[in-house]
Amino acid sequence: MSSPSSLPSPNQKIAPLTAKTNAQGHLEIGGCDVPALVTQYGSPLYIIDEVTLREACRQYRGAFLQHYPAESLVIFASKAWNMLAIDAIVHHEGLGIDVVSAGELYTAIRAGADSQNIYFHGNNKSLQDLEMALDYGVTIVADNWQDLNTLAQLAEDKEVHPRVMIRITPGIECHTHEYIRTGHLDSKFGFDPQDVPAVFEFLSKTPFIKAIGIHAHIGSQIFELTPHQDIGPVLVEWFAKGLAFGLEFSELNVGGGLGICYTEQDDPPSIDDWVQTVCDGVVEACREARVSLPKIIAEPGRSLVGSCGVTAYTVGATKVVPEVRTYISVDGGMSDNPRPITYQAHYTAVVANKMNHPDQVMVTVAGKHCESGDILLKDVALAPTEPGDILAVYGTGAYNYAMASNYNRIARPAAVLVKNGASQLVLQRESLEDLVRNDRLPLSLTHAGV
Ligand SMILES: Cc1ncc(COP(=O)(O)O)c(C=O)c1O
Repeated sequence: MSSPSSLPSPNQKIAPLTAKTNAQGHLEIGGCDVPALVTQYGSPLYIIDEVTLREACRQYRGAFLQHYPAESLVIFASKAWNMLAIDAIVHHEGLGIDVVSAGELYTAIRAGADSQNIYFHGNNKSLQDLEMALDYGVTIVADNWQDLNTLAQLAEDKEVHPRVMIRITPGIECHTHEYIRTGHLDSKFGFDPQDVPAVFEFLSKTPFIKAIGIHAHIGSQIFELTPHQDIGPVLVEWFAKGLAFGLEFSELNVGGGLGICYTEQDDPPSIDDWVQTVCDGVVEACREARVSLPKIIAEPGRSLVGSCGVTAYTVGATKVVPEVRTYISVDGGMSDNPRPITYQAHYTAVVANKMNHPDQVMVTVAGKHCESGDILLKDVALAPTEPGDILAVYGTGAYNYAMASNYNRIARPAAVLVKNGASQLVLQRESLEDLVRNDRLPLSLTHAGV
C-alpha cells in the first residue's frame, strides 16, 4: 500500500474541490470518508460538497463584478437541482433563483429565497402557476402569447403590476445535444423574432404589465464561447427596439449554458472566461447601439451545481461476456441519473474504497433497472471491484436528482451535504412506504371487496 503522501489524488479537473485520497486509501470529500458516509446514510447516496458549490457561486458573482461596469445579478437555474438546502446556499451566496414550476417556486420560497430575485420561466405556465407567481411577486419571463394574455388579465383583476421579461428565440446555434439546445429558431421556447414587434406593441398598450427587459438562453453543456459572444448583440438589438417602443426596459438576461468537465476529454471555458465573453459582447453592443448598460442577469445551472455532486453506489453482480466486456452492476442507475440513457452523457468514476489501486480493468457499469440502456459508464478503466465496493461517480450535481424517477419502483437516494469533516442529511432517502403513499386501492380491489 502506498504511503499517504504518495496516494494518487482524485482527478482535480473533474472531482469536487475538496476531494482527496485519505490515509485509508479512501475517497474523501468535504473531509468525510465516502465509504463511511455510505455506511452511515445508505446506498446509493448523493454527496454535495458545500465548498465547491459556494466557490462556483462566488466565481460567478466575482466575475460579473470584475467584467461588467453596471449592475448584475446571477440567478441559479434551479432546474439543475432544486432542493431546500441548495436553494438556501445559493441564496446565502447572494444569487437569485430561476424557477419553472409551482414546485420549484415553492421550494425556493420555503428555502428563504428573496422573491424579488426569483424569475419564473416555462413554455406552458398554467393559470395556477401565473397566479402563484403574481401572489409571491416574482418576475415572470413570458414565453408566448398565452402567458402575456393571461398575465394582462390577471394583473388587471388583481390590480398588480407584475415585472415581466420577454423570452426571445435568438436564432443562435450551438454544439450540444439536440435535446438541450434551445436558441435555434425551431425551438419550443420563447417568442419567434418575427412576433417581437407585435409583442412590444402589446406591452406598450398594457399598463398593468411592467415590461422590464428581454431574455434568451441558447442551450446547455456548451463549450464554445462564440455563441455566448453572439448573444449580446442579438439581445441588445431587441432591447433597443423595446426602448424605441417606449418600454422601460432595464434588464437583459443572457441565460445560462456553460458546460462542465465530466471526463478528462472535456475542456469547457472557465466561469471567468464565460462571464467576460458575455459582458464584453453586451458592453460593446450597447456602446454601438448608444444604449446605457442594463442590469445584466445570467442564469447558470449546471456550472453552479454539477461539480459539487458525487453519487456513491455499492457494487453488486458482475457479468463477464467473454471477449466482449465485463459488466459490473450497481444499486442505482437511470432512476437516480437519467442523463446517460437520455443524452448519452459520459461520466468519470472511481472505486472510493480502493483509491490507491491502479485502474487496471476495463468494465461497463450497469444500473439495476430493466432497460438494456441503463448503463452509467461504458468501457471505463477502474480498480478491480468486488461486491460491496463503493463506486463514486463525479459530476452528478446537475440534472441527476432533478430528473430522477421511481422507475421500477426504486426509491430515490438520500443526499448529504459535507463540509470540514461534518455531514448533514439534506434529503431523506425514500422509503417503500413513500413509494405507495399516493397510490389508492379502491375497495373493490381489496380482498374485502372481492
Ligand atoms: C431558460 C434556461 N435558463 C438556464 C438554464 C440553465 O442552463 P445550464 O444548466 O446549462 O447552465 C436552462 C437549462 O437548459 C434554461 O432552459
